[in-house]
Amino acid sequence: MTDLLFATGNVHKLREVQEIVGNEFRILSLRDVNIDSDIPETSDTISGNAAQKARFVYEKTGMDCFADDTGLEVDALDGRPGVYSARYAGEGCNFDDNVTKILKELSGVENRNAHFRCVVCLILAGEEYFFEGRIEGAILKERKGQEGFGYDPVFVPIGYRQTFAEMPPYLKNGISHRGKAMFKMMKFLKKNGNNDHG
Ligand code: IMP
Repeated sequence: MTDLLFATGNVHKLREVQEIVGNEFRILSLRDVNIDSDIPETSDTISGNAAQKARFVYEKTGMDCFADDTGLEVDALDGRPGVYSARYAGEGCNFDDNVTKILKELSGVENRNAHFRCVVCLILAGEEYFFEGRIEGAILKERKGQEGFGYDPVFVPIGYRQTFAEMPPYLKNGISHRGKAMFKMMKFLKKNGNNDHG
């Protein structure tokens, strides 16, 4: 099994990504390599943040690694919160505060169309590679479901009736922005290999 270091402090993402890659890769967390500092993400683009996180961990460890960054882009809000999805309701806010804010901003708005966009940046032997995944859907008027994290309770992917938070993890991961970006990365790795860490 090939080891891959995932530059994230988000336990939800870690669990999802391990499920997505299955038995083919073993995902190492920052804890496994004794990094406990917050990873900076100060770029104003999703791909910029993914690269910043991956570079930070690569510089600290010299190991092949990857990071993801995701934004929820809402049509009626001209693509907001986008790259600011994590801090949408302000510094120190939590997932619930962000959902409350989006429901408020969309109150009375008919067009509920939105998508998640995820960019994964892989650093392999010092070279950077990018993989993008996207899922279209709509924002509900109220929360539904307990699974997942972030905006999952209010996001229904197109062609489905359940929110991401009502779906069993395998279903979300099979169609999600992160799942799609990760599948592209795995395909690339299978073709181009990653033999050791650095
Ligand atoms: P990050 O910068 O990639 O950690 O993502 C920014 C924010 O987007 C997170 O804090 C979550 O609120 C939200 N987010 C990221 N991925 C997901 C997802 O798969 N479902 C719902 N919300 C997500």
